[in-house]
Amino acid sequence: MQPRDLSATSPYVPGRGIEEVARDLGLDPNELIKLSSNENPHGSSPKAVDAVTTRATEGLHVYPKAAHTDLTKKLAEKWEKAPEQIWVSPGADGAIDYLSRAMLDPGESVLVPSPGFSYYSMSARHHHGDVSEYELSKADEFNQTADLVLDAYDGDRIVHLTSPHNPTGTEWAREEITTLLDAVDDQTLVVVDEAYGEYSEQPSSIGLVDDFENVAVLRTFSKAYGLAGLRIGYGVVPEPWADAYGRVNTPFAANELACRAALAALDDDDHVDHSVETARWAREYLSENLEAPTFESAGNFVLADVGDASRVAERSQEEGVIIRDCSSFGLPGCVRISCGTHEETKTAVETINRILAEVAPK
Ligand SMILES: Cc1ncc(COP(=O)(O)O)c(C=O)c1O
Repeated sequence: MQPRDLSATSPYVPGRGIEEVARDLGLDPNELIKLSSNENPHGSSPKAVDAVTTRATEGLHVYPKAAHTDLTKKLAEKWEKAPEQIWVSPGADGAIDYLSRAMLDPGESVLVPSPGFSYYSMSARHHHGDVSEYELSKADEFNQTADLVLDAYDGDRIVHLTSPHNPTGTEWAREEITTLLDAVDDQTLVVVDEAYGEYSEQPSSIGLVDDFENVAVLRTFSKAYGLAGLRIGYGVVPEPWADAYGRVNTPFAANELACRAALAALDDDDHVDHSVETARWAREYLSENLEAPTFESAGNFVLADVGDASRVAERSQEEGVIIRDCSSFGLPGCVRISCGTHEETKTAVETINRILAEVAPK
């Protein structure tokens, strides 16, 4: 017995967890700072924690129907859309899968950014699609434009855009997205991934789903709301084909506690504002104080050009600061450092600068 040929699919490489690293290095997990997975250094929204802990064991024997409906309705109100247009999912990853399921016939192609978030191509391949790439150029500071995508575009069925982009932090300008939407085929779905949208100062592309039938926008509770462990996110899609959700979603995949937590988190503006404020401070602090070139970021992380990324990430981890080696993104010279609290970020900068002086003395 063998699975089907999965050789074209690379395994997903997550940032390493604190417990795992602590065990390997024989350290106390409390001594480690994890800045490798773009998580929220302030934890979850306290209102969300309260919502799941006070009613933690209540109603867990029934399928998550009411909480899912309530969350869908609340998100629809927030974005001024019809409830059908909100595709609640287990993380934004789940929404990527739902869009792949809804759109792809076997052999159709999906155009993804390189470097970029690896789950776009994984999902395409899971759904028997082919993958091609458009290249963001380091020499051009990973700038994202319609022309760049159109140069690689060949009538693909799905085109993935990320704004702010992981791992570089760059953003799409609204005019560039509309230029792209006007230029591609009517049957090409452009997916704008706004997993880091709260950290950006630009308006969401969700407004575009009223004007274009071939755009969908992804959002998540994993980052600014601090609910990565619960796996909850959503897509927002145009009204004319929104009913496909009923045919493609995995029933009840967004679990009861996740839906309850997300509902409460939506009422916790203070937590989101505080999280965004810290990230904006930290990305500025990182770019001003790291002894390595950095790229301007609109997310809760900063990409830094350190030379030998594997070595720097490994040494940094030994010193208690876990950062992301971007070799697996095809950027062997770069590390991605998530925005921590003020204290964590300052310690990270001090540690990395010490390592840079040791690894690549000037
Ligand atoms: C660009 C991008 N999209 C989507 C996701 C997945 O988010 P979620 O945790 O909601 O599945 C991530 C996670 O890091 C990401 O970086």
